Amino acid sequence: MATEKGRVDGRTVLITGAASGIGAACARRLAREGARLVLADLDADGAERLAKELGQVAVQADVTRRADIDRMLDEAYRRWGRLDVLFNNAGVIQGKPLLEVTEEDWDRLMSVNLRAVFFVLQAAARRMLGQDPIPGSELRGKLIQTASIAAYRGGLPLTTPYAASKAGVVSLTRSAAQAFAASRITSNCICPGVVDTPLWERLDAEWSALEGWPRGEAWKRRTAGIPLGRPETPDDVAGLVLFLSSADSDYMTGQAVNVDGGLVMGN
Ligand SMILES: NC(=O)c1ccc[n+]([C@@H]2O[C@H](COP(=O)([O-])OP(=O)(O)OC[C@H]3O[C@@H](n4cnc5c(N)ncnc54)[C@H](O)[C@@H]3O)[C@@H](O)[C@H]2O)c1
Repeated sequence: MATEKGRVDGRTVLITGAASGIGAACARRLAREGARLVLADLDADGAERLAKELGQVAVQADVTRRADIDRMLDEAYRRWGRLDVLFNNAGVIQGKPLLEVTEEDWDRLMSVNLRAVFFVLQAAARRMLGQDPIPGSELRGKLIQTASIAAYRGGLPLTTPYAASKAGVVSLTRSAAQAFAASRITSNCICPGVVDTPLWERLDAEWSALEGWPRGEAWKRRTAGIPLGRPETPDDVAGLVLFLSSADSDYMTGQAVNVDGGLVMGN
C-alpha cells in the first residue's frame, strides 16, 4: 500500500521559540506533515518535552548569544547535513506607556526581537549558501521570520519598542530576500494578529493592570473587533508556516503575510 506523503516530507526545519505558543503549534503541524525538526528554546524543559512528544530533537538556546546560535545550527547540520527551512520565531513583549520606556527596556526587547532575528538569519543563510538545493526543489533554503501586524499598526498604545522591532523584522526579511534571491534562498515573514499564547497573557496582565481593569479585560477589548469574529489560535498561524515551508510557496520571496482574522487588510 502506498503511504501518503506529507506536505513537507523529509524537509529539515529549525524552529526558534519552539517550546510555546506559535512555535509549538507550528512544530506539531510540521511534524505531522513529515518534517524533521530541531526545536530550539530558552526553556530547555519545554523544548525537551515537545521534542519527546514529537520524536524530534531539542536544543536549549538563547538566540541573543552567538555561541548558542552556532550550537543550534551545528545540531541541524550534524544530524542532517543540511537545513532546508529556518523558522526564526522567538520573541518577547512588554506593555509599557511610551513615555515610561527605559533604555534597558528598549535594549532587552530589541536584543531578542530584532538583533537576534538578524544574526540567526545571517548564520543560517551562511550555511544554506554552501548546500545543494532542497531535494525536489530549485531552492537552496527558506528563511521565515515572525513579524506581526504591529509592524504596520504601531504600538496600540503600550508596545512601541515591540512594534518597532517587528517593523524591523519586515525590513530585514526583504533585505535578505534581495541579498539571496540569486542564490535561490527565499525570505518571507508572517504577521500574526492577536494570538492566544503566553506572550499575550503577559501583555494582558500588564495592560489590564495599567488601566485598572480586571485580568483578561485588555484581551477581551483587543479581540472584540476582529472581523472573522474570534481570537486567533496558534493553529491558525501553523497553516501559513506549513505553506511557507512547503514547495507550494517556492516562488514567493520578500513577502510579509498577514494571518490575523482580517484586522489589517493590506499593509
Ligand atoms: N501572540 C501574539 O499575539 C503574537 C502576534 C504577532 C506576533 N507574535 C510573535 O510570535 C512569536 C512567538 O510568540 P508567541 O506568542 O508564541 O509567544 P510565547 O511566549 O508563547 O513563545 C515564545 C517562545 O520564545 C522563547 N524565547 C524567548 N526569548 C528567547 C530567547 N532569547 N532565546 C530562545 N528562545 C526564546 C520563549 O521561551 C517561548 O517559548 C514572537 O516573535 C511574537 O512576537 C505573537
